[in-house]
Amino acid sequence: MDHFQYRNRALFCEDVPLAEIAAKYGTPTFVYSEATLVHHLSEIQTAFAPAKPIICYSIKANGNLSIARLMGQHGAGFDVTSGGEFHRALRAGPVGAKIVFAGVGKSDAEIRAALDNHVYLFDVESEEELHIIGKIAQEVGRKAAVALRVNPDLPPKTHAKTDTSVKGVKFGLDIETVLEVAAGVVGHPGLEVVGLHMHLGSPILKVEPYEQGCAKALQLIAALRKQGHPISVLNMGGGFGIHYRQQEALPASAFAKVILPAVAEAKCQLVLEPGRFIVGNAGILLSKVVFNKETGGKRYIIQDAAMNDLIRPTLYDSFHRIWPVHPGDEMPECPADFEAAIPGTLVQDVVGPVCESGDYLAKQRNLPAMNRGDLLATFSAGAYGMSMSSNYNARCRAAEVLVTGGTYRLIRRRETYQDLVACEEDCLK
Ligand code: LLP
Repeated sequence: MDHFQYRNRALFCEDVPLAEIAAKYGTPTFVYSEATLVHHLSEIQTAFAPAKPIICYSIKANGNLSIARLMGQHGAGFDVTSGGEFHRALRAGPVGAKIVFAGVGKSDAEIRAALDNHVYLFDVESEEELHIIGKIAQEVGRKAAVALRVNPDLPPKTHAKTDTSVKGVKFGLDIETVLEVAAGVVGHPGLEVVGLHMHLGSPILKVEPYEQGCAKALQLIAALRKQGHPISVLNMGGGFGIHYRQQEALPASAFAKVILPAVAEAKCQLVLEPGRFIVGNAGILLSKVVFNKETGGKRYIIQDAAMNDLIRPTLYDSFHRIWPVHPGDEMPECPADFEAAIPGTLVQDVVGPVCESGDYLAKQRNLPAMNRGDLLATFSAGAYGMSMSSNYNARCRAAEVLVTGGTYRLIRRRETYQDLVACEEDCLK
């Protein structure tokens, strides 16, 4: 469910026409719906309520301070994967929000800062990391709470670049080695092994991987407890899929159905790290048509958003629905199926101004003929859009706007040319 709807042939975010936002802040601009963000968080909170879960919003999906703050205000903690994300989580608040820290390459400085700032859990990804965290914790006179991240070695379940629980990826401890690694730190003065962590991959559109992962987690938790580790936390990560094409995603309750029984059996505090599920469908990328072009027997819509704004189509072959903000009278207001033939449309590639053939938001797409200045909406762009954006081709990063009912505000100003050179200017000889 989201709050981007057409009313009388104009796309609205909640009660605000998107054309108004484009006129005020220009394009390309990411536009987010507060009601959608809060709705998705509460859907997870409700589905998992029997376990009184700690929902750690995954900052990597979209770390905008206003969005993270909103999540914190509605009861979320944070999942971070770098010192920079930790900083964002602290800035977003509230004070005391629970922060879990995953990632295969935490630096000593990041580990120290996390300890200083009362990290709730380190999700530990290797034996060496475990010992270094224990050493640093001792140096600062603390005991670090850690969850062992396990790679449960499940069948492939999503794009190879984002599947994190198949054999041969860099994440977590191999499932066969977890007990041996854990045995090596029983009674360690700087460590408390309190949890088990799994992040299976992303996006996941079925429940079976969670079911299989939970079954393996239960066995490991029992064995770790036998070793003497006081396991009290089960962190099942994120990964819940969203609607990119049609209504293909599962509700949070479907995942709850397979995860909750395991949590009850393990008698653990449940932690979840959803990112995409919360923010993915809560954001669109608003862009403007610059030119039309026909070449090599193909039609191109050249618009002002590019791979530096949304890299998912070219990086993962991801599909994002794209449709005019003002579809003409002869067009469906919003097609039910973007992959089926749509009468009156032309097959076109939607590309940006960046100097690469891989710079596209969509290929071979049914879209009406567009004119210079027409606005386009690229849907489901809230997650891994802005957070993966870059300044490639010296393009200023897009603005971000948050809509709340009939009001809206800038939550990140568009970058300027001055921003682009700011880190270098003082270094000029
Ligand atoms: N927890 C951990 C440890 C993770 O590595 C991730 C995502 C999450 C939670 C959040 O997953 P989510 O609920 O958002 O699916 N850039 C890719 C996705 C990469 C995900 C990386 N890890 C994309 O655009 O599809």
